[in-house]
Amino acid sequence: MNSNFSIRDEIREYWSSRAATFDEQVGHEIFSEAERQAWQGLFMRHLGPGDGRKALDLASGTGVISLLLHGLGFDVTGLDWAEPMLARARAKAASRGAQIQFMMGDAEQTLEKPESYDVIVTRHLVWTLVDPKAAFREWHSVLRPGGKVLIVDGDFVSHTIVKRIIQLIEKMTRRSTAATHIPDVMRGVHERILRQVYFSQGAKADEVAKLLGEAGFSNIVIDRNLSRIHREQAKNLPLLKALDRQTQHRYAIVATKPV
Ligand SMILES: C[S@@+](CC[C@H](N)C(=O)[O-])C[C@H]1O[C@@H](n2cnc3c(N)ncnc32)[C@H](O)[C@@H]1O
Repeated sequence: MNSNFSIRDEIREYWSSRAATFDEQVGHEIFSEAERQAWQGLFMRHLGPGDGRKALDLASGTGVISLLLHGLGFDVTGLDWAEPMLARARAKAASRGAQIQFMMGDAEQTLEKPESYDVIVTRHLVWTLVDPKAAFREWHSVLRPGGKVLIVDGDFVSHTIVKRIIQLIEKMTRRSTAATHIPDVMRGVHERILRQVYFSQGAKADEVAKLLGEAGFSNIVIDRNLSRIHREQAKNLPLLKALDRQTQHRYAIVATKPV
């Protein structure tokens, strides 16, 4: 591999190559109205209605979260560094008549003006941040005083008892149980990335919350109750994968930039 090829390049390429099938997977795209309502319930609980407030969806991927926020009345900008993801997000928003701006950028260094957003939302980015301390300082700067960041993430590294059982079944039957949606050919890359990111042992909610506090955020609330979302997702998942998801350390964290 070229020595100028950094961990950030590798993460960007990894997601670029997953873009084509990203929306086929439960947990990425939304597959029922009940799941959509469960997600909107989570955002309403922590952010309230959009009322035209400016929201930045960091690592917007194919635009799933951007579209949810748009549906709640936020004025949404999505930012991602993988062009194939952005292309899908733009096409999806256009086909649904949603006015959302999607732009190329690094979530750790957004280049957005200080105090230019009311809300930052990000799903499944933090676990793969190379420098979360710098990222959280950046997010703090981009938010206006009183603005909120909402992180939805999890520890996808530590093995739950269910995961261990799945692995045992796979070993015994020499068959995949479809418990992961990482394509076989990409598992090596995924593991290599994981070894190099900050949360290589898994992004635990308490640790993320502590770093948010160090970056200047206050009123930090960890919400571990994502069961309504997981229940709806489970209806479209194989049993073992649904069980794995329900027992993983997944959470939302909301934090406020002090006035
Ligand atoms: C698991 S996907 C999540 C996409 C979207 N947030 C969602 O939940 O549907 C991770 C996304 O993060 C993006 N990403 C990872 N690190 C990034 C960074 N530093 N800056 C911008 N995008 C990043 C990837 O390109 C990819 O689209």
